[in-house]
Amino acid sequence: LDETTTLNNGVKMPYFGLGVWQTDNHTAQNSVTEAIKNGYRLIDTAKEYGNQAGVGKGIRESLKETGGNRKDLFITTKVFNGDAGYDSTLNAFYDTLHELQLTYIDLYLIHWPVDGRYIDTWHALEKLYKDGLIRAIGISNFDNERLQNLLDHATVTPAVNQMEYNPLNQEKEIHEMAKMTGIQLEAWSPLGGGEALNDPTINQLAEKYHKTAAQIILRWNYQQDVVTIPKSTHTNRIIENSQIADFELSEEDVQKIQAMDKKKHTIWYDEFDWHNAIKPETVQEWDDT
Ligand code: A2P
Repeated sequence: LDETTTLNNGVKMPYFGLGVWQTDNHTAQNSVTEAIKNGYRLIDTAKEYGNQAGVGKGIRESLKETGGNRKDLFITTKVFNGDAGYDSTLNAFYDTLHELQLTYIDLYLIHWPVDGRYIDTWHALEKLYKDGLIRAIGISNFDNERLQNLLDHATVTPAVNQMEYNPLNQEKEIHEMAKMTGIQLEAWSPLGGGEALNDPTINQLAEKYHKTAAQIILRWNYQQDVVTIPKSTHTNRIIENSQIADFELSEEDVQKIQAMDKKKHTIWYDEFDWHNAIKPETVQEWDDT
């Protein structure tokens, strides 16, 4: 849980954290509080999730309870499609800081590469990074072609590319390119939205190692040098998911998981044209008292 990877700018990032996608403010507040109390250091949210206020509240609450320090946490958030562009990204960033009630962000990502606008968005991230408001900047959901285009126009190389990555969708070409360009790969939906948990190969390995299916997948992420942020809103699963330091998958068993790749995205992925259209922001009721 404490292990970190060193990003291409020298910043250390935990290999393991909590995701809070599809979680309302109150639930996110609770999950974040439980996670940090149980040793999590990395929390991953996004403006689009509509729960940054709840995440911020969870951070403050848990620091108060544990006596911990903000500097020991690693907070990731993202700029969404509707804010793509230079000035709009700068404005979105300040809104995000305000919602989270933080003075800086550890890792700020372009959530989706909106075609025609992601270079301008990147230049805004570079400015915020150079101004010292973000410790590392990165991207999410960039294929290799868009990444190459970004690299051709960037003065700062992205530190991270966050992709859908799980045994059923291993994004091997993107992982290769990330390794070659010194970019850390990070997995969203590492459990395949729950689907990979039912796979027979994963369950055989779970039996063999006396671990749960989720722990097998998350350990495999770590052994592949992939940062992982499983989402759960249940305290027992939040704890279970973090218990992956006390065993190691053999090379042979890693290969069994490598062979599971079907290049299959989770169901919702194809529902929306993420690279072009601007989806309306999620707006949630939030009583910040
Ligand atoms: P829940 O939030 O009810 O615990 P992913 O991160 O791949 O998108 O997967 C998240 C899904 O997997 C959520 O539906 C979450 O449900 C479920 N999940 C998370 N951890 C576990 C676990 N240890 N065992 C079973 N299901 C899990």
